[in-house]
Amino acid sequence: MSPPLPPQSRLLLDALQIRAHVKAQASQIDHLYQASDLVLVGVLKGAVHYISDLLRSLTLDPQMEWVRVETYSAGTTNAGQSRLVFVGDVKLEGRDVLVVDDILDRGHTYRLLSRELMARNPASLRWAFLLEKEGARHRAGFDPDFAGLLVPEVWVVGYGMDLSEKYRNLEGIYAL
Ligand code: IMP
Ligand code: MG
Repeated sequence: MSPPLPPQSRLLLDALQIRAHVKAQASQIDHLYQASDLVLVGVLKGAVHYISDLLRSLTLDPQMEWVRVETYSAGTTNAGQSRLVFVGDVKLEGRDVLVVDDILDRGHTYRLLSRELMARNPASLRWAFLLEKEGARHRAGFDPDFAGLLVPEVWVVGYGMDLSEKYRNLEGIYAL
């Protein structure tokens, strides 16, 4: 039995299409980072399947670390602001850092992480995305180093991405 699909959703990308994209990115990454001290920094929680598949598609054996973005909810004095939380003691100084994130949309995560990661003095900082929403490069004001698959500007779920913490377990990616 398969897990339930969101109501009135349509399949955008199936497991084979996702797999092909991740494998193509992995060979680019393998090529670029030969003989470097690579650290993949995954952004929780949406990138969980993506980073796992990416890591297993590489011939390199990079370190894997995690960050999560916490947004203060309404009612606190900092409502609407967000901060970055590292999972564990992550040393990035002088190392080649590749951020692995699910979707580029408005560039909010990109701006926050860039600032905080650059402050840790990595040797290099690059970005890989699974997906890019239409117009995202314009909204974010940046072009990812490892491009995501283009999806329309609608909410998507599956393959790690959620709607209110549901549907992360779907193999494919669905538009609501
Ligand atoms: P940005 O940081 O403003 O570019 O927004 C991207 C972040 O918001 C992603 O890393 C996701 O965590 C989340 N997000 C944006 N759009 C979607 C979506 O359609 N489905 C699930 N999460 C999304
Ligand atoms: Mg995210």
